[in-house]
Amino acid sequence: MSIEISDLSVTYGQERVISGLSLDIPEGCFFTLLGPSGCGKTTLLRTIAGFVPASGGHIVFNGKDVTDLPAYKRNIGMVFQDYALFPDKTVAENVAYGLRARGESGAAMLKKVEAALDRVGMAHLMARHPAALSGGQRQRVALARAMVIKPQVLLMDEPLSNLDAKLRIQIRETISDLQREANITTVFVTHDQEEALSMSDKIGVMNRGAVEQLGTPKEIYATPRTAYVADFVGAANRIDVALSGPAQDGMVRVDFGGEALLASSALPAGASGGILIMRPEDLQLAASPADLRQPLRGTILKRQYLGGKTSYKISLANGAVISAECHGDGHDRHAIGAHVFAGVDPAKAMVIAA
Ligand SMILES: Nc1ncnc2c1ncn2[C@@H]1O[C@H](COP(=O)(O)OP(=O)(O)O)[C@@H](O)[C@H]1O
Ligand SMILES: [Mg+2]
Repeated sequence: MSIEISDLSVTYGQERVISGLSLDIPEGCFFTLLGPSGCGKTTLLRTIAGFVPASGGHIVFNGKDVTDLPAYKRNIGMVFQDYALFPDKTVAENVAYGLRARGESGAAMLKKVEAALDRVGMAHLMARHPAALSGGQRQRVALARAMVIKPQVLLMDEPLSNLDAKLRIQIRETISDLQREANITTVFVTHDQEEALSMSDKIGVMNRGAVEQLGTPKEIYATPRTAYVADFVGAANRIDVALSGPAQDGMVRVDFGGEALLASSALPAGASGGILIMRPEDLQLAASPADLRQPLRGTILKRQYLGGKTSYKISLANGAVISAECHGDGHDRHAIGAHVFAGVDPAKAMVIAA
């Protein structure tokens, strides 16, 4: 089922939390709303579900306007951060709940419950109560409960954030597999960029009740349109710069603390400056400038060894402090206090509007 949201507004009392938001989510898409706490992700999800009324605009499922349709008529599966299982019901009864509400019963219903639990590896714990399950097991039950009714839309509100790192990755895979098998249109809410990048077909980066940028994970990461997006999705060095020459073939020359640097431009015509964005992993470090593009002289200020990579803070001769991340053999070879050069490919240095 496709979801079209147009000019949607949601207010709590006097406070407008979502304003003029429009979004098209095609059938079968794994769509992620990514943004910091308080930006309106849960509100938007609950409005799509029908739990929170829209104060303006429209929500359309497969061409049908559902803006005023009550939640129980929208055929939606939901998974929450806190599992929201019924504590006094067994695992099987939790999963059966939605089917019973639809008038199902008996052996046929039980078979569906078992199949759904089996799919998430929980069939052997059918008779348990939620209190006797781990967080990961509870979330698997919640997933089975959402999927057993064969919903047309699956909505998930930070379903992984109460789990530890290893479980998060396991259940991430279960969710992706289930979503693809059922080809179910999914709206997934998270504040975690790695989750968003790894799971989604499309991401909407939210800022204060609006979608600031919409795109595939790669588009969002490689070509952020605003400093907010660049910063929120992946780390970024952000430096205010003035242009020292006109744009040519999508490239501009910027003045970076007195040093001229060639960068790719996403600036509107006529701009005189912007924000230079350089990702730490796009900066190359070397003891000599010989093998580097656009080497900048500096000194290692801090170093963090992270196993597969090392993260450095470098104090540049032009006065700026930047972060760089090295991978591969000898990634930790630069000592604190060492003189180094940091090089950046013009294609990987981006100037965007301030
Ligand atoms: N029931 C409510 N009544 C009043 N304000 C609310 C309510 N729920 C959320 N808010 C406010 O709306 C804003 C967005 O909240 P929310 O949608 O929960 O954001 P997120 O899920 O991105 O953290 C916040 O400022 C929050 O305080
Ligand atoms: Mg929330």
